[in-house]
Amino acid sequence: MNLTYRPRRLRGNDAVRHLCRETRMSPDSLIYPIFVDETLQGVRPIEALPGQNHYGLDSVCQAVEECLANGVTHCILFGLPAHKDAIGSSAWDEHGVVQEAIRTIKAKYPDFYVITDVCMCEYTDHGHCGILCGHEVDNDQTLEVLAKTALSHVQAGADMVAPSDMMDGRVAAIRAILDEHGYTATPIMAYSAKYASAFYGPFRAAAGSAPSFGDRKGYQMDPHNRKEALKECALDIEEGADIIMVKPALSYLDVIRECSDAYDLPMCAYQVSGEYAMIKTAAAAGLIDEYRIMCESALSVFRAGANMLITYYAKELAQAIRSGYIG
Ligand code: PBG
Repeated sequence: MNLTYRPRRLRGNDAVRHLCRETRMSPDSLIYPIFVDETLQGVRPIEALPGQNHYGLDSVCQAVEECLANGVTHCILFGLPAHKDAIGSSAWDEHGVVQEAIRTIKAKYPDFYVITDVCMCEYTDHGHCGILCGHEVDNDQTLEVLAKTALSHVQAGADMVAPSDMMDGRVAAIRAILDEHGYTATPIMAYSAKYASAFYGPFRAAAGSAPSFGDRKGYQMDPHNRKEALKECALDIEEGADIIMVKPALSYLDVIRECSDAYDLPMCAYQVSGEYAMIKTAAAAGLIDEYRIMCESALSVFRAGANMLITYYAKELAQAIRSGYIG
């Protein structure tokens, strides 16, 4: 055969395949979720998320050390407070679980990058992401408590805040309060296109944040929609978001692609608990190759246009990148 083009020339061995990789990944672009439980001493495995742990404040540095040992330098913190009430007041408590975790981490590892999830659902006794008015979450009242919460995280030493509540106007409210207090240099990563997804199931079990009635469809996005995702990103950018996010990742790769094409901000994606749990359980049943599927899933997210990924597999992926298997 007299073929001009033989694409297989660039697939012949690892050296040439690695040379021609179009998508590049680095441990720097991975963010590891850490769950800190105020009532816990030591480390407790999370049943809903095999391989993940709850950490007590006395052992949160262990989570950081495990990250650093694998080359992961960024985390996102989630708190399980000892006390919950209707307005989620522990969320902005100066001595709340996340605030104390930040101080503990920063005292020992000042260069470890700490992002905080800003939301009310772990702190309210009804499990919704804001302050209720009847059976609905009141948007504008919630903005006030979200802003206070974000400020308290930054005052405790957080490097970046990430509002995940999906209230309208939260980025503007948080930007305003941070600027007012002189934190003009602290970036906001907005969970911009966050869908009302069943993929959050294991997280809600892990964080004790499932709503006690109803669902989150009144504030999180309808999975049917893509133009709405563009709109949500545009609004967050107008309000001052520094990084936008699409969540979940694997079932929303089209949205990641579209938003990353449309906007010039760095784009994050969140491979959520249900995505992780599906890989874990299928692998535990002997049905799939966990390592390869973990790698392939993460690659797809970067190939779709994400610049960074929040994932429960951050440590394992960092190792896979370091070994050259991906990246
Ligand atoms: C808080 C929040 C949730 C997740 C991240 N931040 C839960 C939710 O919205 O119900 C989900 C993360 C995951 O599933 O891994 N609102």
